[in-house]
Amino acid sequence: MKKKVILFISSFFVFGSMITAQETASKEYQANYQQVLKRTQWWRDARFGMFIHFGAYAVPARGEWVKSNERLTTEQYQKYVDAFNPIDFDAKKWAKAAKAAGMKYAVLTAKHHDGFCMFDSKLTDYKASTKFNGRDIVREFLDAFRAEGLKVGLYYSLIDWHHADYPNVGNHPQRDDKEYAKRKFNWDNYLTYMHGQVEELVKNYGKIDIMWFDYSFDNYNSEKWKAKSLLQMVHKYQPDIILDNRLDINNGTATTGRMVSFIGDFETPEQGIPEVPLIDKYGNSIPWETCLTLNNNWGYAESDNNWKSPELIVHCLVNCVSKNGNMLLNVGPDARGNIPDESIRILSEVGKWMDKNNESIYGCGASNLIKPDWGRYTQKNNTVYAHWMYPILGALNAKGIGDKAKNVFLLSSGAELSFQNSWWGNNEPGNLFINADKAKDSPGKMDAVIKIELK
Ligand code: GLC
Repeated sequence: MKKKVILFISSFFVFGSMITAQETASKEYQANYQQVLKRTQWWRDARFGMFIHFGAYAVPARGEWVKSNERLTTEQYQKYVDAFNPIDFDAKKWAKAAKAAGMKYAVLTAKHHDGFCMFDSKLTDYKASTKFNGRDIVREFLDAFRAEGLKVGLYYSLIDWHHADYPNVGNHPQRDDKEYAKRKFNWDNYLTYMHGQVEELVKNYGKIDIMWFDYSFDNYNSEKWKAKSLLQMVHKYQPDIILDNRLDINNGTATTGRMVSFIGDFETPEQGIPEVPLIDKYGNSIPWETCLTLNNNWGYAESDNNWKSPELIVHCLVNCVSKNGNMLLNVGPDARGNIPDESIRILSEVGKWMDKNNESIYGCGASNLIKPDWGRYTQKNNTVYAHWMYPILGALNAKGIGDKAKNVFLLSSGAELSFQNSWWGNNEPGNLFINADKAKDSPGKMDAVIKIELK
């Protein structure tokens, strides 16, 4: 642990901030932090997961926010619910795609903001199983992903745009509807329903590794959701489960002012990557996960072809890991239940890179070396992985390693790379010039990983 603290202080100096004195954390805070670390160990080693946004919103095919964006009434939305019949849905196919991409866990939307449930809840008929031959999408997802050896998680929306007792607050589709606002909303009824559904999920579906609650806003926060009693119940059934932080307000990609939470295990920056590893004011490393879309939408969107390239996805993953973070990459299956072809293509390209280079991702985290021009570092114990992402001139300097390098290889082929401490008159201390151009002149399309074993 000590080593890590030093590492983070130095990385803060690098980025120009100053930590002058270390405050001491309360015993309670430290004890909770140790628990968080213990619970999240497998998850922090896994680093790469799949997010799946699947629901009736795949029918209008304009993203999962369509009901809110277009201010649709429940009656207007009903035609999509009625039409939702994902005849091609095959969770085994999804699981194989995730596994082939090198992902180690997956999180499926059990209920999104529209309130339509992908699981066979006894507390509502507003669920896919009422029509889909009684099939329980959540159960099939869990079975298939577990069978592939992946850890499983469920996303559950705290917000509910369908429930009669959920008020028209925040981005509710009827937020501007004065008549709707006159209705009586019984918050306790909603809480009973919401807690009850979460209980169904954690009680009836075997081991759930992750619960992903979404999301808090304004005064709709942990108190309002009665998060404490909710989590007590969750932990009763699932003592080892790990939880995102959105039972409280989330801080996006902010890098300062964060603390390790008592009601969630990891932070959830969305569609962006923090600039430095996240630490609390005591220097403790905070577990975090960036979630991001492959195009611009979480839910299926027919006309959104703004796909990220496989190269960018690999760079994002390496970026996260180089700062002790995870990446949860989204797919939005269409209304027939198929992950879009383009998503599958990108995932399989990423998977090809992962096949050769996953050693530089799994179990890896930040290095205390200064970020170089040509890419990024990840590190695991005594092995530094130099991710060569951008073209350079001449030899590649892994500055800071100096004479501590024992062996240097190109990870993808295992070929040895020669190295020396000075090059073209540059004898500065800490130099490690790697003759990477012997293997290639440039990092190629993705990221050429150079494995540096330290003495
Ligand atoms: C946001 C959005 C939601 C999406 C989620 C993923 O909270 O409301 O649609 O599911 O982010 O992180």
